Amino acid sequence: MPPQPPSPVPDFIYGTAWKEDRTPALTELALRMGFRGIDTANQRRHYFEEGVGQGLAAAYRSGLVTRDDLFLQTKFTYQPGQDHRLPYDPAASLSVQVAQSMASSLDHLGTDHVDSYVLHGPSSNHDWTDTDAEVWEAMRNERDAGHTRLLGVSNVSLRHMQQMEAARVELPTFVQNRCYARLGWDRAVRQFCREHKIVYQGFSLLTANHEVLQHPLIASLTSASLVASANATPAQVVFSFARTIGILPLTGTSNAEHMKQDLASHEVKLPSDAVHAIESLAG
Ligand SMILES: NC(=O)c1ccc[n+]([C@@H]2O[C@H](COP(=O)([O-])OP(=O)(O)OC[C@H]3O[C@@H](n4cnc5c(N)ncnc54)[C@H](OP(=O)(O)O)[C@@H]3O)[C@@H](O)[C@H]2O)c1
Repeated sequence: MPPQPPSPVPDFIYGTAWKEDRTPALTELALRMGFRGIDTANQRRHYFEEGVGQGLAAAYRSGLVTRDDLFLQTKFTYQPGQDHRLPYDPAASLSVQVAQSMASSLDHLGTDHVDSYVLHGPSSNHDWTDTDAEVWEAMRNERDAGHTRLLGVSNVSLRHMQQMEAARVELPTFVQNRCYARLGWDRAVRQFCREHKIVYQGFSLLTANHEVLQHPLIASLTSASLVASANATPAQVVFSFARTIGILPLTGTSNAEHMKQDLASHEVKLPSDAVHAIESLAG
């Protein structure tokens, strides 16, 4: 089956990692506040995917949203990234593990398809290996079976992406990476993505960049002239900057006010010289 045209991708994604018992309520709250993109993983160690499904079900029940309003993204995680709570039989082949993990995700999320299925990380920090090639093919089969619309990879280097390209395999629609300001906000991978029309999703934009949030440049950009109603917050400046340079941001906030502020970062328009300055602030 040829790749399906991209379904609408929201311009902010709510991340559900590390929320444990609060996952259902926070997922529902994020939808109530206006998020329409939800990121999770079938990795019980860091995510409670079933709890995300409970939050979605509550939002459907109350008439807040329907499944079609949402962009749901989950991940396949290799065994070394998991604890004992595996969503597959570790003795099965990798392609069976992918199929089992996907079936379990669909069950957790109460849907017959997700919008994006992401390889949580390659099997090696250095290379795109035969193991990854086998899993990627299994993920493509899941896509062709209609269980996901789109595919992604996460925690990848430029080298991984170049090796994928050299192997002439289908490139992903999404890359999801931790975005360090000191690495030029992952400049090399972002550049590859731009050249190959891959959507770059950035996480830990705040938590990986404390020094940026406290930088005088960011403080100077929070002035009232940037937003109609109030001063921008440093977090809003960072999210606005990220979007301006082509990053689709994730936020994992557990705070309703922060959710509101993060979504309102659309209103923050940064002058282009400020964008260049932030981009080269620390890398
Ligand atoms: N692919 C991967 O390997 C991977 C790895 C890590 C994360 N992720 C995904 O990315 C999502 C986001 O992770 P993250 O590391 O970016 O964020 P995060 O660590 O989940 O949360 C952001 C942190 O910043 C704080 N914060 C303060 N002001 C904020 C504001 N205005 N807006 C947002 N946060 C504010 C939050 O505190 P408050 O709660 O008090 O606001 C929270 O402690 C995860 O939930 C997960 O879905 C993926």
